[in-house]
Amino acid sequence: MSESSSGQIDHVLDESRLFPPPAEFTQKAVIGSIEQYDELYARARDDRDGFWRQEALEHLHWFQPFDQVCKWEPPHAEWFVGGKTNASYNCLDRNIELGLGDRPAIIWEGEPGDTRTLTYSELKTEVSKCAAALRELGIEAGDIVSIYMPMTPELAIAMLACARIGAIHSVIFAGFSAESIADRNQDAQAKMVITSDGLYRRGKVLPLKETVNEALEKSPSVETCLVLKRVGNDVVMKEGRDVWWHDVVDKQSGDLPAEPMDSEATLFILYTSGSTGKPKGIRHTTAGYNLWAKRTFQWVFDHRDDDVYWCTADCGWITGHSYIVYGPLSAGATCLMYEGAPNHPAEDRFWDLVEKYKVTILYTAPTAIRAFIKWGDQHVDKHDLSSLRLLGTVGEGINPEAWMWYHKKIGAEKCPIVDTWWQTETGGIMMSPLPGVTPTKPGSCTKPLPGVVPTILAEDGSAVDQEHGGKLCIQQPWPGMLRGVWGDDDRFVSTYWATFKDAYLTGDNARCDKDGYYWIMGRIDDVINVSGHRLSTIEVESALVSHPAVAEAAVVGRPDECKGEAIAAFVTVTDPNPGEELRQELRNHVRKQIGALAQPDDIRFAASVPKTRSGKIMRRLLRDIAAGREAVGDTSTLEDFTVLAQLREEES
Ligand code: WT7
Repeated sequence: MSESSSGQIDHVLDESRLFPPPAEFTQKAVIGSIEQYDELYARARDDRDGFWRQEALEHLHWFQPFDQVCKWEPPHAEWFVGGKTNASYNCLDRNIELGLGDRPAIIWEGEPGDTRTLTYSELKTEVSKCAAALRELGIEAGDIVSIYMPMTPELAIAMLACARIGAIHSVIFAGFSAESIADRNQDAQAKMVITSDGLYRRGKVLPLKETVNEALEKSPSVETCLVLKRVGNDVVMKEGRDVWWHDVVDKQSGDLPAEPMDSEATLFILYTSGSTGKPKGIRHTTAGYNLWAKRTFQWVFDHRDDDVYWCTADCGWITGHSYIVYGPLSAGATCLMYEGAPNHPAEDRFWDLVEKYKVTILYTAPTAIRAFIKWGDQHVDKHDLSSLRLLGTVGEGINPEAWMWYHKKIGAEKCPIVDTWWQTETGGIMMSPLPGVTPTKPGSCTKPLPGVVPTILAEDGSAVDQEHGGKLCIQQPWPGMLRGVWGDDDRFVSTYWATFKDAYLTGDNARCDKDGYYWIMGRIDDVINVSGHRLSTIEVESALVSHPAVAEAAVVGRPDECKGEAIAAFVTVTDPNPGEELRQELRNHVRKQIGALAQPDDIRFAASVPKTRSGKIMRRLLRDIAAGREAVGDTSTLEDFTVLAQLREEES
């Protein structure tokens, strides 16, 4: 059990309230009876290939039919082998063929309040133009394109344009540093970067192009940089490398056909933190991922024709890939996309958007919900939220208090809440209530979706009492599963498949209660979850020790009311009298190395970092200290852990 979240676990474990779906919701639901769920679940488990054959034929367009549903040679799986499809076609052309051309696909609002609506036909035209421009700039199928952009329609357009011609996108969240961009460009051997001049954040302009320019100094593989004009600030464009979006995209004709792609062609890679210092490029492929994103979207969000769906994530994370772009667009949904911060110009921006666009389905993160609670109910009370019919959460477990507030204050006690558990690696939602049928328990992601066969195992792979809990694993392949780690199959095998041979190791601890409900209990590795974002403690440590004043660093998560986990760093420095100035300098250094999201919340100067005799950092001890569970006097100044560490080692 991850100790950092143990306080929360105890809390969650006491939870026994049960909230059945409202009858009115159930009556109209896509999956409207528990028998229907049971039947789907049993069929997917007992006749995996038959089930997914039918799903794939019905829900994707095929340029060429597949001849095998699933080729499973653990740990490598291939789905819909021999088939040809295209994710951009499934998101655009197919919907237009189905008569949805005039339906809004993306309703966008910028942070300053500018708006734009793109119907499915218009989106297809824009995507085709961008795809044609990429071709003109020398991008071919299989090339990697890094995308570092604000949440504008062009971000989704760029992703779909890559998909249209078979290029592989690697979206980098626009909060990452130049170093992080360069690392990712380098690891993937990216050929192009798509960015913008800047982005709006709480009314200010962040100079994205400047950051990219710095990254490109260290990205020899990148030949071209395509730049969208978003904010109109001055930028440095490098002759022969940099081109403006409006110069090359606008002039193209809008009817570029989608390229038939192998089912198993890589659709995208997305870097995420693991338990070592180096982020890994999670590889997802075309057909299986597309089908998984689409079907899980339809099941979990009970999507209907008149819905206005809003996922508040950023496309820089997997949630944006699967539930802003590929899932909802394949399903012909109308998606609201918002560019900016939830508290700009005021703390009611989200509720203003819900009211203005009559949002029916809202998908957000527990950390955002906790911020809203902190900001006060008055911001919510100003707005009419009666259009909402379904609420979702993702990114971390939701504490029951936040769940209850979301249920009462936002959902007016009439909207089911779907707490969706999944990972970058799983491609889409794995466990979640089905809103029309699953009675919910605050804090539990409830049950697996059809096609997901979870099991909880002990350290040595033996069966454990499922109620007691252990390592959460998935036993069978599913269409949306990661196919690998970019350029590093050994890492793919050792991270996910070495512990238990035929089961995918999720990295989470979980327990399953007597009703078959799953409760996620935090990570088993050195990964921390800060505001729903995944970070490796080792990554932050490496950033800290790259500063000349730092001799050693140890980083742990500590519970935080708003962020879930905050970052606590213990550093040993060369300066005998370190002070506030150095603390600030180290914060900035980490921001520069990784990005603002990795900036430590606490930095404590320590005389030594406690280690076991074999040289492992004693994180357990540091987590206790960071959380204030151990009295060690004034912890803001130099700490000597030697004595404490010795005591601890004797204990264990
Ligand atoms: C890790 C995956 C899934 C997209 C966003 C994060 C934690 C995620 C839940 C949830 C409890 C959750 C897990 C997981 N997590 N959703 N509903 N309940 N924990 O994707 O960055 O790949 O992180 O987030 O620990 O392993 P990610």
